Amino acid sequence: MRHFLTLKTFSKGELLEMIDLAIAIKAETKRGQFTPYLKNKTLAMIFEKSSTRTRVSFEVGIYQLGGVGLFLSRNDLQLGRGEPMKDTARVISRMCDLVMVRTFEQAKLEEFAAYSQVPVINGLTNEYHPVQLMADYLTMIEFGKGDNPVVAYVGDGNNMAHSWLMLASKLGFELRIATPVGYEPDSAIVADALAFAKESGATIRLLHDPKAAVEGADVVSTDTWISMGQEEEKERRIRDFQGFQVNRELLSLAKEDAILLHCLPAYRGYEVSEDVFEAHAQEIFTEAENRLHAQKGIMVWLDRQRSACGTDQAR
Ligand code: CP
Ligand code: NVA
Repeated sequence: MRHFLTLKTFSKGELLEMIDLAIAIKAETKRGQFTPYLKNKTLAMIFEKSSTRTRVSFEVGIYQLGGVGLFLSRNDLQLGRGEPMKDTARVISRMCDLVMVRTFEQAKLEEFAAYSQVPVINGLTNEYHPVQLMADYLTMIEFGKGDNPVVAYVGDGNNMAHSWLMLASKLGFELRIATPVGYEPDSAIVADALAFAKESGATIRLLHDPKAAVEGADVVSTDTWISMGQEEEKERRIRDFQGFQVNRELLSLAKEDAILLHCLPAYRGYEVSEDVFEAHAQEIFTEAENRLHAQKGIMVWLDRQRSACGTDQAR
């Protein structure tokens, strides 16, 4: 049985299988065809942080696949009163077929998965946001940027930067990450990405100059400077990220037909300027919609893997 906790544990072929499923199911959905690939299956969705896209896309996704979603926020669960993650995992996974967890440390998610009898999906942790990157890659394909793109990520070396590192190093494209000094991606994650890049032929460049990163890029991506849980660092971060806004001047260095991706929510006037955001709204909101389609591919793929392996393996 496989979990979807980070892109790190998947081969290029497996990631592309999930993307292909997403493309096929999206096409069916657009024709008004709702094949019940997950008929009568239940997806538990545990949220320890806020969400708009992740909640709506998973809930609508499982419903359109013939199943049902349970929204479980930390404060409604005994988790909020101190019940251990591993007990929560053992209870919920005896009743549900898939579990999505949005939490703080990746270690908490890994613990949940270790005790779960059913596939667990990372709905965002401090370290990674892998479902977002699957939607981003689907969007890149749709905008003609799937083949050998040069991607520039400008901003914080956070969960999005880490997930870009995994996607690029697994699929084998060029990724340039520009962060302020002191906000670089985690060195252990970079080391993993460099090891995967050796196999895939990816080029990974870590920079402190946003212009050098964006120069000639096919895809430019950014994310908030203040992730969930970092609210107290807001003032310092805004100071430290000056010069890292994706605005008209910076984006003019990218290829003329470059697309702009943003996982959202966007903070205009900070990581992205209002005019640039609105000029690229088509890509950005297709990317948001693609959360729905990409995650259907992931859920169906995990469910098929679980059926193929047959037995329950958790403690
Ligand atoms: N991009 C993303 O995960 O959005 P939410 O926080 O709204 O789920
Ligand atoms: N880096 C952001 C992503 C939000 C979807 C955060 O973790 O808050």
